[in-house]
Amino acid sequence: MWKNIDIAVEKTTKLKDKPEADKLGFGRHFTDHMFLMDWNRELGWHQARICPYQPFHMDPAATVLHYGQAIFEGLKAYRGDNGQIYLFRPEDNLERMNRGAVRMSMPRFSVDLVLKGLKALVYLDRDWIPAVNGASLYLRPTMIGVDPYLGLKPADTYTFYIIMSPVGSYYSGGFSPTKIYVCRDYVRAVKGGVGEVKTAGNYAASLLAYDMANKAGYTQVLWLDACERKYVEEVGTSNIFFVLDDTVVTPPLGGSILGGITRDSVINLAQNWGMTVQERPITIDEVLAASRDGRLKEAFATGTAAVISPVGELFCDETSYPINGGAAGPLAERLFAELQAIQYGRGEDPFNWRM
Ligand code: COI
Repeated sequence: MWKNIDIAVEKTTKLKDKPEADKLGFGRHFTDHMFLMDWNRELGWHQARICPYQPFHMDPAATVLHYGQAIFEGLKAYRGDNGQIYLFRPEDNLERMNRGAVRMSMPRFSVDLVLKGLKALVYLDRDWIPAVNGASLYLRPTMIGVDPYLGLKPADTYTFYIIMSPVGSYYSGGFSPTKIYVCRDYVRAVKGGVGEVKTAGNYAASLLAYDMANKAGYTQVLWLDACERKYVEEVGTSNIFFVLDDTVVTPPLGGSILGGITRDSVINLAQNWGMTVQERPITIDEVLAASRDGRLKEAFATGTAAVISPVGELFCDETSYPINGGAAGPLAERLFAELQAIQYGRGEDPFNWRM
């Protein structure tokens, strides 16, 4: 039931102080306004509105708090050198969210309506988009089930909201290479499960392994498949790429891996540059053997938050495998520069990703 609903706007009477653009970190500060809309079985999505950023009133029995009916997205708004505001592939994020909604028994929404709300929100809070290279405004569309009911079933009422946070680099080291711990004890997702959905529980389930790796001095965890603990799946909250000789290899999407928008952008850019890109199963043994043989030229992670994150070292079974001498590789650097050029409106946009 998707009516052509108007978006009401209530502006705040008290603007917040803005953080300094070169000391943002990631996800600590929130803008003056938020977008909200509600869903119930009778009205469908209704009461789309932009209002001052504020806490929710939520029943302690709300579905999301007990059974985790929650999906979210991450995308960014950028300020170009000319002051112009750009979004990067926002429809792809919203369409992915709608696919996630189906998997999580939640209601789909009109991408056009949400995009309209998202653009209005970004425009209203445009002074929060940092004018510093590498910084941006991170947008977090989220949908949660809010029924006050403890029986297990899909909720009858949902809230959709978008909050926004001015951000710098995801990792405190910025683009510097990460150290990655190959995790054999825990898995992130199973085929047939919800690994391909951006749902809150996937991130909660990853925290113990992340914490252990972090305490041991590693930036993130490399996840292996749940069945055989043999195939590489993802790294931390990102997709993973390897450069083996001249070939770019990334695991195929098969249900347990999130179909990253940055992952897709990297595949398209590399192919456009004439490189061979293989989406194929790759075992951790193949990666480590390639490292020993000198065939593993580079590894890097891709995601909205971290963009391109070079991997300088893999640690597996008590052995350390440096990659490219621990430095960022040329492909990671080229992709990072090219994506930033597109995102900040500095270069050509051959795939029409900019909005
Ligand atoms: C993103 O890359 O946008 C993510 O959702 C990762 C998040 C954990 C910050």
